[in-house]
Amino acid sequence: MSNRQTVVYRKDYKAPNHDVETINLVFDLIPDRTIVTSTMHVVPREGRESDEFELNGESLQLVSIKINGQPSLTNQYAMNAGKLIFHSIKEPTDIEIVTRINPKANLELSGLYLSNNNFITQCEAEGFRRITYFPNRPDVLAKYTVTLHAPKECKVLLSNGNLVDQGVLPDGRKYAIWHDPFPKPSYLFALVAGNFTVNEDKIELNNDKTALLQIYTEPGNENKTVHAMDCLKKAIRWDEVRYGLTLDLERFMIVATNDFNMGAMENKGLNIFNAKYVLADDGVATDSDYAAIESVIGHEYFHNWTGDRVTCRDWFQLSLKEGLTVFREQEFASDMLGSESAKVVKRIKDVRALRTAQFPEDSGPMAHPIRPDSYSEINNFYTMTVYEKGAEVVRMYQTMFGKEGFKKGLAEYLRRYDGSAATCDDFRTAMAEANDADLSQFALWYSQAGTPRVSVKTQWDESKKTFTITTRQSNRTLPGQPKPQPLMIPLAVGVLNDKGEDIPLQLEGEPLPVGTTRVLLLNQDVQTWTLVNVDRRPLLSLGRGFSAPVICDMDLTRDQLVFLAKNDSDLFNRAEAFEKLSILAIDAFIQELRKTQNANSLSPMEAYLATFEEILNDERLSPAYRAEILKLPSEQAIYESQIIIEPALIRAACQAMQKKIGQRLKTSFEDKVKTCTTEGIYKYDPDLAGKRALKFLSLSYLVASGNPKGVQQTRNFFEKGNNITDKLGALSIAVHSGLPIRQEMLNKSSIAWATEPLLINKWLEVQALATSVHGEMPVVNKIRSLMMDPLFSIKNPNNVYSLLRTFFAKGGPEFHTLDGSGYQLWIETVLNIDSFNPQVSARLARTLENWRRYEPRLSSMMYKALRYVSQQKNLSADLREIVDKAIN
Ligand code: PHE
Ligand code: ZN
Repeated sequence: MSNRQTVVYRKDYKAPNHDVETINLVFDLIPDRTIVTSTMHVVPREGRESDEFELNGESLQLVSIKINGQPSLTNQYAMNAGKLIFHSIKEPTDIEIVTRINPKANLELSGLYLSNNNFITQCEAEGFRRITYFPNRPDVLAKYTVTLHAPKECKVLLSNGNLVDQGVLPDGRKYAIWHDPFPKPSYLFALVAGNFTVNEDKIELNNDKTALLQIYTEPGNENKTVHAMDCLKKAIRWDEVRYGLTLDLERFMIVATNDFNMGAMENKGLNIFNAKYVLADDGVATDSDYAAIESVIGHEYFHNWTGDRVTCRDWFQLSLKEGLTVFREQEFASDMLGSESAKVVKRIKDVRALRTAQFPEDSGPMAHPIRPDSYSEINNFYTMTVYEKGAEVVRMYQTMFGKEGFKKGLAEYLRRYDGSAATCDDFRTAMAEANDADLSQFALWYSQAGTPRVSVKTQWDESKKTFTITTRQSNRTLPGQPKPQPLMIPLAVGVLNDKGEDIPLQLEGEPLPVGTTRVLLLNQDVQTWTLVNVDRRPLLSLGRGFSAPVICDMDLTRDQLVFLAKNDSDLFNRAEAFEKLSILAIDAFIQELRKTQNANSLSPMEAYLATFEEILNDERLSPAYRAEILKLPSEQAIYESQIIIEPALIRAACQAMQKKIGQRLKTSFEDKVKTCTTEGIYKYDPDLAGKRALKFLSLSYLVASGNPKGVQQTRNFFEKGNNITDKLGALSIAVHSGLPIRQEMLNKSSIAWATEPLLINKWLEVQALATSVHGEMPVVNKIRSLMMDPLFSIKNPNNVYSLLRTFFAKGGPEFHTLDGSGYQLWIETVLNIDSFNPQVSARLARTLENWRRYEPRLSSMMYKALRYVSQQKNLSADLREIVDKAIN
């Protein structure tokens, strides 16, 4: 494990002195002593700074080095702090390096490791240096030929590219040779060897070639890859149609594994996936899992062009591939949804995730621009900011230039940089030049951290029939950063008249109105727009579709919010208005609880309940849309609306409000449970999924209000449901509401689900979100006992994320207990996991970083927990960076 404490700065980038044109890798795969023989053809670069050829290495045992076929002399190279440096490579040179590694002891899951006795690799960002010495940086692109030698039990031997040869060695072991014709950085290298079954299909490409598609899984899962294969074909087709981008390989492979730190990995031609983003059938995957699989399969496939064909020059440019690919994935997922109202649900969910996870990141100790300026551990920068805010920044190009303009810009970028490593500036410049635009100010989105605020004031002059919109942007000053500058912000707006209709928008000086939604392009601190011919009382609908990743402030009265929630033609903004109303209502409960510790006397205001009921019963709105907007804002979303976070108070307010809503709208909810129950065999389909979502939303309000019929129905869906969406939906309601039947349900599911890792994760996650019941074991203790359960393994990242990360991030008052027992568990698990998997411990540790925002009784204990961890010696560089930034 590395203990590097050095900070890397973007400004220090230097081009490498040498290229590696080809690399030939031979692996003798043995679980505890694999031998790797690497032969590189190294070529000095024109204009290089020196003749030193620098390679990285970590946890390697060096066996031998040959230079141009001759055993090397020790004065030809030096070994120093994880680096192997050849002093003088002035000519094209063949260097052979033999190393020995121990995949079996690799619990970091970076480099070559074992998963259920199968060999798997993970090389992004810096895992390749744990396989062999190599210039392990993304701007060194080589052509790979890979030979695998493996025990004869290994049924499947895979690497990137095309299969050149395979067979049996004289000693009975097996071999396979793979060649990848595309030059690639080492982080895209992959190998897989072991016992897998395969689901195969073919696809005709738009260049008349046929590609072989393969999905490899552990035996027993062969029938769970139908959905993933379907998604893969859709993704390939979509990239052809939308962007004219064709699969460039004869064969495209996906491998699923249960031991993976992240979601999935885009290795060229050989994507490796966390099993939860591949496997699906009615017994293991919920409606949301089906949708997530579609997105992740799309994401990794789209990387083939945006990431693999054009990669990143250095890791500071990570958002170049990730922001862009998340945007492409979102557009794909949205295009796969038929109706407008289904598409908007996807957008609402994405924006909610951004607001509840990226906004707090951007205002906390880990705040960084989408293109960071420094890091001490790159693995800590696979963040919501780089990915999701990065995607919003990419989306703004499309908002400014339209789909066609964006497509032109993307084509130009790929044309310029195909086969090479590029920067965020390169992308922006290609977009600007393809669209004849000046995007120099837009560059600030890449360098400025923090969520910009735009406050908006409007004024209607009834006699002049003018409506003026004044915007003022303000960006938070962050320590160590230059004074923030005004950004270029495309703000989509519409105007409703007093009948709730969109009016045609005509700016002063324009001969005619231009549409009913328009994009105002902000580029100064304060700006004013004047609309003319506005003859009835107008109301601004601001930031339609979330056109920019900013916080919009506009003083709206409750009545205006109700009006927008009922009438806005932009369904995204209707949801926004309703969410604001919900937060106002919850706030009232919070105030009441603060005064009386009992909110039972309070009821949400009439207008809110009436709007709720109207939306709930509005058959013109899809069930999916109604389910999404009528769900109470998540506790994390409420945290964002509060100055000081009081987890217990917020949970109590939510419970009280749910109860009131459940009592009041009982009949409507009962009706929805009945009419939204889907009959017949399970099928994933966004419309049916929407009905199931509305059914469970209604049920959760009924159960919260203590409705006995609701409780009975919860039990029924669990017992009789023919799909996991129903069973899990019912189980989570029971556990989260602390229903007496919950333990029986949990016992039953642990028996029925024990052999399915994916179901065990769900079982753990449900319990991480449990509510303590008076007189019974507190949830913290329950979590501790689950950690001792044979079904839980602390070595498995999915288990850790499902149980511990969920508990730390979303357990609310169950985690933030006044006796500090939650934080004690946090300390113990973070340190324990750090001793073998720093990437996971660092991600887990981030759950306390916003400690400053909590009520003092909690924040002082949170601080102490962070400080305690930071005082330990031998922390990984990953964890050290997180805890030190959090407390300093
Ligand atoms: N590059 C992967 C993706 O976003 C994520 C990943 C990063 C996976 C690092 C593993 C390790 O698609
Ligand atoms: Zn990605």
